[in-house]
Amino acid sequence: QNSLNSQLQGLYTQAQVLYTHILLKTKVGEPALAYLQNRELAAEVIDEFSLGFAPNQGNVLLDYFTSHQVARELLVRSGLFVQTNDGRLIDRFRNRVMFPITNQNGQVIAFSGRILTASENEPKYLNSPETQLFQKRETLYHFSQAKQSIRESKTAILFEGFMDVISAYKAGVTNGVASMGTSLTSQQLYLLSRAAQKLIVCYDGDEPGQKATAEALKLLKNESFEVGIISLPDKQDPDEFVKAHGAAAFQKQLSQNVLTPIAFQLQHLRSDYNLNLDGDRLAYVQAALQDIVTIDSSVEQELYLQQVANETQLDLTALKNEFETARVKYA
Ligand code: UTP
Ligand code: MN
Ligand code: MN
Ligand code: MN
Ligand code: MN
Repeated sequence: QNSLNSQLQGLYTQAQVLYTHILLKTKVGEPALAYLQNRELAAEVIDEFSLGFAPNQGNVLLDYFTSHQVARELLVRSGLFVQTNDGRLIDRFRNRVMFPITNQNGQVIAFSGRILTASENEPKYLNSPETQLFQKRETLYHFSQAKQSIRESKTAILFEGFMDVISAYKAGVTNGVASMGTSLTSQQLYLLSRAAQKLIVCYDGDEPGQKATAEALKLLKNESFEVGIISLPDKQDPDEFVKAHGAAAFQKQLSQNVLTPIAFQLQHLRSDYNLNLDGDRLAYVQAALQDIVTIDSSVEQELYLQQVANETQLDLTALKNEFETARVKYA
């Protein structure tokens, strides 16, 4: 078992070295390198994240491992290949920029590959299948590399995607990790809890990202992290925000635009209602009160009641009466 693990481990490391070589040193890698340059990734950043490229033609990985006498059984187990109908193995990743995913010790245990040009028939990111080395629910992208920075700042920043972590890093934010698009798990939070006291959720500014934030907050309710939320403007994700507004503006978001969970929930809730309509205003008030009753501090309750009164242009005293009713009902 252990030796099988280390053999698989070895394959992943060798695959990463090969993919990186192809990206940086070969003619076939040129379009991928141009793609990354177009996304404003400098050589130093490509190196830090050990990015690579899996070409479209041939079976580079299969050829390489075959010439090194790697047993077919091991290749099958690795998840780096797919079997054709007639039982042959072919490379799984094709025409994709390769993002290595590491375990807590920094060893490569999986890949995600981003397609160079959008296609309707293929996923934008293709991930390695789960193996005995790689369990998605227990993995956070870039955690091993960010751990030191997370410890020092006692803070981890949670992003959705690979490019968000990388762009944040570019902007000097080195304590970022990503849940890689899937919903956050308690296993991932456990990893973070050993290094961070504070967690900042900085998902995409679009509706799926905001929905995912709300879901993450539900999970975080049962944890002891201090939690902050960044809700980026214009439906942008962190990568797009850095590209559009620069590093300083991004750092400013992280230091000055951090919402409390309740403030985020109210903001997200509000976007579902048209506050110019009486019915919507009343429905919003009821929903908002349900959130506000969960607040422990009465000063904080007062703060958000004030805010809701302003937003809906309702009388604060009437709202407070309604709040007392809600407290009996929901608390
Ligand atoms: P997004 O759709 O927000 O992609 O998915 P992105 O990170 O902004 O990608 P770019 O900027 O176009 O390159 C967020 C994350 O969800 C996972 C990836 O981890 C991605 O970074 N994902 C997304 C997948 O695993 N597969 C997909 O097909 C799409
Ligand atoms: Mn997204
Ligand atoms: Mn903008
Ligand atoms: Mn995104
Ligand atoms: Mn993006």
